[in-house]
Amino acid sequence: MIVCVCRRISDREIARHARAGMGFDEIQFELGVATQCGRCEGCVRDVVAQCSASCPTANIQLANHPLESSAWKPPQSSSPTSSAR
Ligand code: FES
Repeated sequence: MIVCVCRRISDREIARHARAGMGFDEIQFELGVATQCGRCEGCVRDVVAQCSASCPTANIQLANHPLESSAWKPPQSSSPTSSAR
């Protein structure tokens, strides 16, 4: 999911940097998150907090985000018996 719309930075990118031991300020400097409109700052801080080395499950929690669930839908499998006749 894109967290910083201005810089098109995803939660995965932020999480990857956080797991590498970077804090918010370092990630902000490296990726440029929260440097334009600033609306993403709270979410970025949440991702950084969740993705510290002690909590590697942040992606699982964020995957349940409503925007994330609407971004990808599994292909609908049609039943061969219902469309044949
Ligand atoms: S959404 Fe991140 S700076 Fe605008």
